[in-house]
Amino acid sequence: MINVAILGFGVVGSGVAEVLTTNAGHIDQKTDNLIRLKYILDVREFPDSPYASQVIHDFSIIEQDPEVQIVVETIGGAKIAKEFTERALRAGKCVVTSNKELVAEHGVELLELAKANGVHYLFEASVGGGIPIIRPLNQCLAANEIEEICGILNGTTNYILTRMIKGGLSFDAALKEAQRNGYAEQDPTADIEGHDACRKICILASLAFGRHVYPRQVPTEGITHVTLADVAYADTCGKKIKLLGRAIRQEDGKICAYVAPHLVDCENPLAGVEDVFNAISIRGNAIGDVMFYGRGAGKLPTASAVVADVMDAARHLNSKRQLYWGPGGEDVTVPMDGLSCPWYVRANAKTEAIKAVFGTVSFLARPGAPAGEVAFLTGAMDRSSLDQKLAGVEQLSIMRVLD
Ligand code: HSE
Repeated sequence: MINVAILGFGVVGSGVAEVLTTNAGHIDQKTDNLIRLKYILDVREFPDSPYASQVIHDFSIIEQDPEVQIVVETIGGAKIAKEFTERALRAGKCVVTSNKELVAEHGVELLELAKANGVHYLFEASVGGGIPIIRPLNQCLAANEIEEICGILNGTTNYILTRMIKGGLSFDAALKEAQRNGYAEQDPTADIEGHDACRKICILASLAFGRHVYPRQVPTEGITHVTLADVAYADTCGKKIKLLGRAIRQEDGKICAYVAPHLVDCENPLAGVEDVFNAISIRGNAIGDVMFYGRGAGKLPTASAVVADVMDAARHLNSKRQLYWGPGGEDVTVPMDGLSCPWYVRANAKTEAIKAVFGTVSFLARPGAPAGEVAFLTGAMDRSSLDQKLAGVEQLSIMRVLD
C-alpha cells in the first residue's frame, strides 16, 4: 500500500481527494498497488466532509510517518509550502504539486533536493491545469532543440477576454464570473496582472531550455488595461485579444521570455481558444509546431494532473529517473526590447499626423468611436522605434500583434 498526504484542502486539494477516492479502483489497477489517502493537512476543520477523520493540523505527523510515501502540496505560495516541501523531500517522500509560484521561484533548488534524497518532485499540474505538458515536453519532445513556446497560460484571463469579446461584458463583470467559477487565484491580481502566466512560462522555459528562468527575468503585462474599444478594433481586422506567454530561443542560445496581451489573427489556432481553456504551442527543430489544448484551471482538471503525478511517483518510487534543469543566472535571458513585431495602437491623434510619422499603416474604424480617437496597425518594429514615433502622441492602448 502507498499512503498519500494532501497539504492544503482548498479547491485543488479537495479535488485531489475526490479523484483519489472516486477513481480508486482504476488508480489501484493502473499502479498495481493500493493508493490510499491517509492525511489531509489544513488549518481548518471540515466536520461535514467525508474526509473529516483524515484532517490533521500538525505537519510533523506526516513528516515522521514512514507509511507516507507521497505528499501532495496544494497549499500554494512560496512560504510555508516551501518549508513543508523541503521537509517532506528531506524525509524521503516524493512531493507532487500544482504550485507554480513555488516551482517558478525555487524549482531548481527543490529538484536538487529531491535528487539528493532519491525521491521525485513532480509538478505536471503547475502549468496548463489538466493539460499534459510537463511530461510531454520533458519526454516526448526531448529529442528536439526547442525554438519557441507560445501559449495561453491563464484560464481566468482567457475567460475574462472571451466574455468581453463574445458577451460584451465589462472587465469587472467577467472577472466576478471567473471567480464564482473557481478559476481565479485567491488574489486575482496574480491572474489579471499576468504573474500567474509569467510563472508558467518560466517553468516551461526552464524545462525546455535547461536553465532556471526566474519570474523577475520575464517582463510581464496583464490585461487590466484592455477595454471593449480594443476588443472592437481587433474584431474589425479579424483578430482576437489574447494574453500570451512566450519564450523564444535566440541564435546565441539565450532566451527572450515575456507575458503580454497580443492581437492574434483569427486563423491562428490560439485565437480559437476560449473560456477557461489554455493552449500551448511549441516549436521544435525536428517536430515543427505542436500544440497542447485543454482545461487550464478548475478543481477536477487540475486534480487530474496531480493524481497522474501521484500515480507516476507510485510506479517509480525506487527509480532514479528525475526531472532536472540547471541553475539560472543573468546570462540565461535577454531583454525583449529587440523583439520586432507589428503593433496595434489606439491614440488621441489626427490620422494625418500618424501618417506623417509612420508612413503607411492600416487604420481601423469602430462604430461609436469618440472624436479624435485613432487606431491602427503598424509594420514590424521594435519597442524603442515605436516609442520614438509615438513621442508626443497621447497613447490610449498599445499591444503587440502576433506575427
Ligand atoms: N488561476 C489559474 C488560472 C489557475 O486561471 O489559470 C490555474 O493555474
